[in-house]
Amino acid sequence: MLIDTHSHIFSKEFSSDVHEVVERAISSGVEKIVLPNVDSSSIKNMLDLSDAYPDVCYPVIGLHPTSVKEDYEEELEIVNYWLKKRSFKGIGEIGIDLYWDSSFLEEQIIVFRQQLRWAKERKLPVVIHVRDSFEETFQVIEEEMDEDLKGVFHSFTGTEEQAHKITGWGFKLGINGIVTFKNGGLDKTLAGVDMKHLMLETDSPYLAPVPFRGKRNESAYIRNIQQKIADIYNVSLDEVARVTTDNARKLFNF
Ligand code: NI
Repeated sequence: MLIDTHSHIFSKEFSSDVHEVVERAISSGVEKIVLPNVDSSSIKNMLDLSDAYPDVCYPVIGLHPTSVKEDYEEELEIVNYWLKKRSFKGIGEIGIDLYWDSSFLEEQIIVFRQQLRWAKERKLPVVIHVRDSFEETFQVIEEEMDEDLKGVFHSFTGTEEQAHKITGWGFKLGINGIVTFKNGGLDKTLAGVDMKHLMLETDSPYLAPVPFRGKRNESAYIRNIQQKIADIYNVSLDEVARVTTDNARKLFNF
């Protein structure tokens, strides 16, 4: 059995067929799907899907760095409201993104730090998004690091050195369809990283693995990522499932 540790199948791309998408995932051996929030506009759909599949879909609440704008204080207050109101499997996705827009870097750091602190207080794992921002993200994590801080660097695409730094903190690396991309280079990086640090994710609807590259991604396609990991480490599909699912169960407390 597999766990898709990062999937936005509550987004509008799935509004017409989300139930079929969940059923296909279950038929493909996906036992759990972790749903990381984006911002206040995505919460209702995320919670509705979690409530429709309470033993399969699990919400993670947070404010995504690309949604950090002038109104970040109101957005953060909504995250805080929901944290008090119901249980979540973690806080995410959170982090720093300097690819799309760097003009709110200062605010992104404030929002990231606050959510790391909430996670530590509640002993919840964090789902971290990094894009063109390893240095800035690492600095905030180092400042906030303590024994209660745990989580995953989702959609990991960094260097071997960055991977070792992350796993040295006890964090996991979320691996998605990028690992199947020709000339992506992630397969070569992973050759220097122990498989015991990995978790599988799809990041649906984005980053569909080969042979679906460019199409809408969905949780069932996690099988193609599992196969690529098995090829890289020269182990069986069962071994990939055992290691990555065990990591996901422990981190998200399933
Ligand atoms: Ni995401």
